[in-house]
Amino acid sequence: GAVELGPYRHFMQKEIFEQPRAISDTIPASDSFEPKLFGEAAPAAFDEIDSILILACGTSYYSGLTAKYWLESIAKISTQVEIASEYRYRESVPNPKALVVVISQSGETADTLAALKHAQELGHRHTLAVCNVSTSAMVRLTQMQFLTHAGREIGVASTKAFTTQLVGLFTLAVTLGKLRGYVDAAKEADYVKQLRHLPAALNSVLALEPQIIAWSEEFSRKENALFLGRGLHYPIALEGALKLKEISYIHAEAYPAGELKHGPLALVTEAMPVVTVAPNDALLEKLKSNMQEVRARGGQLYVFADADTKIVNEEGMHVIRMPEHYGMLSPILHVVPLQLLAYHTACARGTDVDKPRNLAKSVTVE
Ligand code: G6P
Repeated sequence: GAVELGPYRHFMQKEIFEQPRAISDTIPASDSFEPKLFGEAAPAAFDEIDSILILACGTSYYSGLTAKYWLESIAKISTQVEIASEYRYRESVPNPKALVVVISQSGETADTLAALKHAQELGHRHTLAVCNVSTSAMVRLTQMQFLTHAGREIGVASTKAFTTQLVGLFTLAVTLGKLRGYVDAAKEADYVKQLRHLPAALNSVLALEPQIIAWSEEFSRKENALFLGRGLHYPIALEGALKLKEISYIHAEAYPAGELKHGPLALVTEAMPVVTVAPNDALLEKLKSNMQEVRARGGQLYVFADADTKIVNEEGMHVIRMPEHYGMLSPILHVVPLQLLAYHTACARGTDVDKPRNLAKSVTVE
């Protein structure tokens, strides 16, 4: 039947607000994470693997970049992430003990599919698809699968597919961490508890929409924006910049905040909004000094700060306070206000939000 917009103006907005449901449907029902969650072949395959190679495009690539932090810190497994169109055309060194993970909403993206086939031709036997479409080519061609339950995604700019991919990849990190002896029963219970809290936490983040709408009025008059993050939230800054450029046509780029002084600081003037993802993590003090570097040059900071960061509104510093401090799952919460910022900025500019110019939902030709 017809997919209804309900109270929403666009599918993108509807899909952003569906995330608590999509995520709750994607989190495994069992409180004990076993390899079988990834298919019948996973118990044997996971015993053999010594590293991970993630291949993807677009927003799915950024979920892969986020997952690298989780896989290396929770499961202590060496992880590489590569853009599919780069991997498929370069000479790489195959490792038959690596787990090749393709991440794709559609499961049909031409470059990701070709990268998967290329890896298989190079002798990679252990392959896993993290995918939203159960009947897709990638699901058929991989040894193992994790299906996200985002439901059909219509907006070209991916939102709920991204956050559900993150749930799948976090589940993979905890499962591998357990197998490899780095996640004990108490830690697993804690991770599962954090996952089960996500839908409620997301609802509180979605309630920030009116504050984000106020910011979007200012953003809609800009032609450039810079996004900063560090660590786990650097890929979230990348995703925030991608969302903004895809649908509002404002040029946006993301930098790891520590790299500011090696280039982008030259672009900072009063005309350049600098969106900063500021979770309360080990890098907060470093991030605060990066923010001072921007303020000292007259730059306007727009900061998404966790509940307990003590970052406050002042000259040159606009703050939206996140309701909590989220630990390891923080990227899944912090990306949501960036989706909303891009969405409302695009609405204010009057662009075709669900079908941005020149872009396609699924790129099935090269
Ligand atoms: C297109 C879409 C993006 C998506 C990318 C990868 O560029 O516009 O939203 O992230 O393809 O698609 P996939 O289906 O492989 O995740």
